[in-house]
Amino acid sequence: MDDKKTGSYYTPLDIVEFMVHFLVLQGQTFQCTLEPSAGDGRFLPALLSQEDCHIDAVELFEDKVQDMSSRINSSKVRYLTADFLDYVDACECRYQLIIGNPPYINLKNMGKSAIEKGKSLFEAEGINTAVMQNLWGAFLVGAVKLLKQGGTIFYVLPMEFLQVQYAEKLRLYLEGKFNHIKIFTFETDVFSDIEQKTCLVYLSNRENAVPYIEYYCYHSPKDCTPFKVSRIEINKPLKKWSNAVLNDEDIELLKVCAADCIKMNQLGPCAPGIVTGGNKYFIVNQTFVTEHQAQNCVLPILQKSSFIKQNTIFFNDILFQTLQNQDVPVFLLNLSQCDDIPQKVLEYLERVGEEKTNQVKLKERHKCSRRTPWYGVPIVNYGDVFFFKRSDRLPHLYINEKQIHTTDAGYHIRLMETYDAASVVFCFYNSLTLALCEFNGRYYGGGVLELTPSEFKDLALPYTKIEQSDVEVLDRMFREKRPILDIVSYVNERTLATRLESDVIERLNIIRQTLMKRRLSI
Ligand SMILES: C[S@@+](CC[C@H](N)C(=O)[O-])C[C@H]1O[C@@H](n2cnc3c(N)ncnc32)[C@H](O)[C@@H]1O
Repeated sequence: MDDKKTGSYYTPLDIVEFMVHFLVLQGQTFQCTLEPSAGDGRFLPALLSQEDCHIDAVELFEDKVQDMSSRINSSKVRYLTADFLDYVDACECRYQLIIGNPPYINLKNMGKSAIEKGKSLFEAEGINTAVMQNLWGAFLVGAVKLLKQGGTIFYVLPMEFLQVQYAEKLRLYLEGKFNHIKIFTFETDVFSDIEQKTCLVYLSNRENAVPYIEYYCYHSPKDCTPFKVSRIEINKPLKKWSNAVLNDEDIELLKVCAADCIKMNQLGPCAPGIVTGGNKYFIVNQTFVTEHQAQNCVLPILQKSSFIKQNTIFFNDILFQTLQNQDVPVFLLNLSQCDDIPQKVLEYLERVGEEKTNQVKLKERHKCSRRTPWYGVPIVNYGDVFFFKRSDRLPHLYINEKQIHTTDAGYHIRLMETYDAASVVFCFYNSLTLALCEFNGRYYGGGVLELTPSEFKDLALPYTKIEQSDVEVLDRMFREKRPILDIVSYVNERTLATRLESDVIERLNIIRQTLMKRRLSI
């Protein structure tokens, strides 16, 4: 059976041991326990070894239930072959502990009826149904519904739950329901056979207790003590639980320092670049331009930061020329106002307009069909500086000397006269702004950082006018691939150091490194 469709990735036994051991330390009782997606029953032995235990073990597939019940034959376990989402509706019992590793099945692999059941669970709890993007989400909400007052949920969940935007409302809902939230992460890859990183999420409610989110970092589930613990009490609700890797003082420091700076969107109009409706068709290379005699109807454009191989803070003619010579697609067909489109380009458009992707012709795609002519890409002006929403090790802001456009994968600022592009870009590479990039944004597999337009606009910048010679030194440091720490220290000296004590700057730098290490697992 396809693992992606059944979400059958079994929990390593050392994680099971870790979870049960932790519950014992918390004084957890086990008389009324539910395992909602029991699989091969690997949570059961560890639970059964606890005194006074009773477990209801739910599993969708009959063959798995048969296999499990024949191997683990105990009067303390009641086996149920059921869809957990139906079980939530039918079950009258309320549990003291719900523990397990729910199936990770995303919307596109879920059946229609599972989607409907999941969404109706969300609806009943007053959570927008658009938040239900994965079966684990429904298993979380279902578990909340089946929990006794004061009960505990302890789940293995994908790391993305802590920070993806679509799950923000779910996290908010859980913060409203539980006052003790604990997150456990492990440096070692605990699920070596799946690409997804996972964490453990413990949700519990104590009477009259101060609400908090605690974040524990362990090297491995075999360790008895974490190498780092942090706690958030004040900065709740916390938009991204992954940011609980900082503590309240760190977050307060970020907020206080940011309040003293200018925001990106105060430097001038700030916006994403051009939406083409089909980059592959509307952004072409030098060979195309020459062959189609399209020189008079193209604009320079950059699609993504990975095209810029050179380490620099200037995007200038030389860099553009390099990309052009390498035949990288850097020309946008700008045809909306063009009265004299070359014949060869017209022939090209006629051909590609009919090309289908997922049964839809290019010219009938949502974006193309709503504009006249369908190939007339609306032009958004370029900015004085630009940034790409995705970045690898270090987020980059460039000085746009070439006056190049970007696609909407890039955000630009058209600076007001009081600010100059070189100073803005120079000042960007300080510990505070870089820490805020990590704090505001989210990361995906492989550690790619992403910021939405509003997260970018909200970044704080310790702007100050910078000498041209200092800007050149910084560019040289980039070209020489100097360590990030050197670059950041150099910028800090000319920016933060004029307004903050050195120990505060050092703390900001530690915060930046903590957040960056968490993302890149370094
Ligand atoms: C990630 S595995 C976890 C198994 C086991 N609890 C563990 O931790 O190793 C998820 C299990 O959920 C089962 N499952 C999938 N959809 C389900 C559903 N709607 N209701 C109950 N179980 C389901 C799968 O068959 C699979 O055994």
